[in-house]
Amino acid sequence: MTEVLVARKLGRRYRWRGGSNQALLDVDLSVPKGVVLGLLGRNGAGKTTFVRIAATSLMPTSGSLEVFGHDVVREADAVRERIAVIPQESRPFYWMSPTELVAYYLRMRGESTGAALRQAKETLEELELTRWKDTQVNRLSGGLRRRVMVAMVMASDAEFLFLDEPTTGLDPLARRSVWAAIRKAAKANRTVLLTTHYLDEAEALSDRLAILESGRLLASGTPREIAARVRHPYRVTLEGGFSEKELRALGQVTQVGAKTLLFTGEQEARELARVSLEKGTRISMGPVSLEDLFVQIVGKEISEEDEEVEASHAA
Ligand SMILES: Nc1ncnc2c1ncn2[C@@H]1O[C@H](COP(=O)(O)OP(=O)(O)O)[C@@H](O)[C@H]1O
Ligand SMILES: [Mg+2]
Repeated sequence: MTEVLVARKLGRRYRWRGGSNQALLDVDLSVPKGVVLGLLGRNGAGKTTFVRIAATSLMPTSGSLEVFGHDVVREADAVRERIAVIPQESRPFYWMSPTELVAYYLRMRGESTGAALRQAKETLEELELTRWKDTQVNRLSGGLRRRVMVAMVMASDAEFLFLDEPTTGLDPLARRSVWAAIRKAAKANRTVLLTTHYLDEAEALSDRLAILESGRLLASGTPREIAARVRHPYRVTLEGGFSEKELRALGQVTQVGAKTLLFTGEQEARELARVSLEKGTRISMGPVSLEDLFVQIVGKEISEEDEEVEASHAA
């Protein structure tokens, strides 16, 4: 498989007068062509730093990163031609309409005016933005503006798209139209690097996952490969039949009302299923969700504390 992104021992230290912060350290990661990579992590994990380096807008302070075989520092221009980026803090030109904005972006990338307008119309339709196509962007809500940015990069001919939290602040329906656009890009064999702290989003879209925490890459691979690395890749729900002590010997036990939830290994899950069948007690089991995996790998929840941080930033 062709690797379109290869990071080797990538690091970034931010420095300022009187201090510094290691935002990324020794990140080794490669992304094959045509996949959607979900780069996951809590706030401050280093996701945006990684994307900004890959998109040639920030220099690494150690290690290296290549996109399409081009070094992002020495051959930044060659990289830029083939990528399109939505930064986390993106501010479109507010005096333009979505149609103008998307078409302008495509013109900048070398398309003719006619082709740019046609493509803009089509992509705005796909993202269900047709109603607003001629409204000045500064009169649109934050969520709509975000989707216009998504339309911009999707409409381009870039082979590799970097989307830094493309759906933060969108309502559930708007999220779905962005998801559909991402899936379409993947079908067209474009590569997508998507950062998100929504685990359902990563689960719904990603062929590959990479989990960052405090600047370190804790895990990467297919969801299945990551699941295979954790101690308790199975989630079993039981109603009676076993004592809590018996279950504790097999994994991590939580009582949820009348049911017992157990995180355990595959062998243990199979054995429990066999015994439950014999005893005639209720059992259901399956692979853990991405959320459970995240907690097992990072040792912390992705959400609560993060949401509060965001809310206070927004205020
Ligand atoms: N320009 C900057 N100067 C100093 N520290 C920064 C800067 N940008 C980010 N950081 C710090 O680097 C770490 C990683 O940030 P970031 O890459 O934005 O994480 P994420 O996108 O996962 O939330 C955080 O601790 C953040 O505070
Ligand atoms: Mg970020």
